Amino acid sequence: MKVVDSISALRTTVNAWRLNGETVGFVPTMGNLHDGHLKLVKKAKAHNDRVVVSIFVNPMQFGANEDLDAYPRTIEEDKAKLISVGADAVFLPSVAEMYPAGLDAQTFVEVPGISDSHCGASRPGHFRGVATVVTKLFNMVQPDDAFFGEKDFQQLQVIRALAHDLSMAVRIHGVPTEREASGLAMSSRNGYLTEAEKATASAIYEEMQRVKSSIEKGNVNFTALEETMIANLEAKGFKNDYCQVVNASTFQAAREIDKELVLLVAMFMGKTRLIDNLQITR
Ligand code: PAJ
Repeated sequence: MKVVDSISALRTTVNAWRLNGETVGFVPTMGNLHDGHLKLVKKAKAHNDRVVVSIFVNPMQFGANEDLDAYPRTIEEDKAKLISVGADAVFLPSVAEMYPAGLDAQTFVEVPGISDSHCGASRPGHFRGVATVVTKLFNMVQPDDAFFGEKDFQQLQVIRALAHDLSMAVRIHGVPTEREASGLAMSSRNGYLTEAEKATASAIYEEMQRVKSSIEKGNVNFTALEETMIANLEAKGFKNDYCQVVNASTFQAAREIDKELVLLVAMFMGKTRLIDNLQITR
């Protein structure tokens, strides 16, 4: 596996593959890799001749009071995991390589509408940071295919929209959420939880499944379902950020006529913010 930290070395590597007629898949990450990330890399390997993974903890997508400094950085373990799943190159740019003029002197990419609600409302500027860094990374790697987790459902929709609206040639693929045996969605932020908190956190998945099966049986009282879910989780020690059944394309509150829904959840356990979601078809 090639390890590159400059844009020029990345381009040299990718250009050599392209001259051979090889296709390139891309998996952007912030590192501290777990089986969810590795699932994306395996998908990319199955689709493309070559796979590039980036590891960059992107300061632009963190708010002032968020966990940028505390975010886990485990580069050596990450490299070993990437070798084990056959990644061809890992791109590890510094902040200066990504943002040579600083974070403020920077053209940015914004995807209004889809970015405004839910995580976008709770984390102002977050999706601008994500959309900008992903656009930059796409321009650096110029992949044929890029792979994102459904775990971050709103992020996936933001990226689909920007790739489409900016006429990018890259194909965007969504990959289902990888979960612990308990149902807890894998996340680098689970490392902030104690074992007891982790055990409690699996209640999010149980509650989501309860709501899903109730809707599938014909219950359309979405607000009541949400209120019960919030009450059940708050009784277990969570603090609600949002918990809503929405139209999967518009992210507006679900209505009886909607067929493709998604239950979007963000909950705090202490200072740790956990997100999850479940797609529901009526
Ligand atoms: P990060 O949180 O490291 O996630 C990298 C990719 O892994 C994202 O596409 C995310 O949705 C996916 N992922 C995370 N947990 C997953 C799980 N349990 N199952 C399946 N996929 C999972 O998301 C980011 O980084 C950043 O915002 C990034 C896109 C890299 C831009 O900085």
